Amino acid sequence: MADLGVVAMNLFGLDVLSRVVHIATAITLVGGSIFMAIAMIPSLEMIPNEQRAAFVSAVRDRWKRYVHGGIGLFLLSGFYNYFRAIPKHQGDGLYHALLGTKMLLAFVIFFLASVMVGRSAKFESWRQNPSKVLRVMIILAVLIVAMSGFLKIRGWQ
Ligand code: HEM
Repeated sequence: MADLGVVAMNLFGLDVLSRVVHIATAITLVGGSIFMAIAMIPSLEMIPNEQRAAFVSAVRDRWKRYVHGGIGLFLLSGFYNYFRAIPKHQGDGLYHALLGTKMLLAFVIFFLASVMVGRSAKFESWRQNPSKVLRVMIILAVLIVAMSGFLKIRGWQ
């Protein structure tokens, strides 16, 4: 019995850690993207042409590390949350439908974010004109946060 108590306590610690990591990652990546869309990109025209490309490239190189690390943390904490949530949502069709949709949308964002910090020549035109892609990413992220918040608060059983 005592052993079961220890396991439950350890999982409680992991549950809290995973939630904190998941939310902190969302704050950093979604917040950073919103900052770029509303403040950084509209201000780029104040930088003289010759320096603008070097500035954008320096920002991209730094942001890339956070995008790649963040995707890893989202997947790690997200799948942990998911496996912990499955037993609590047996027979809960709405939960699995919304969470499945949320995961698909998250993978679309991961693809777009990777492309925007990547080097593939195919997507150079997207990187040259990032506002539209950023807007799509932000709308999808707001949808994901709304779906996740709804599932958390709604509960089941
Ligand atoms: C753009 C990427 C993502 C964002 C912005 C995001 C955001 C969130 C937020 C805000 C919550 C609510 C946390 C809480 O109130 O405790 C949450 C919960 C959750 N997320 Fe994510 N998430 C993302 C990606 C993922 C991925 C890729 C997975 C799965 C592989 C995942 C699985 C989960 C699960 C299972 C929960 C718990 C839902 C529940 O309450 O039962 N998330 N996410």
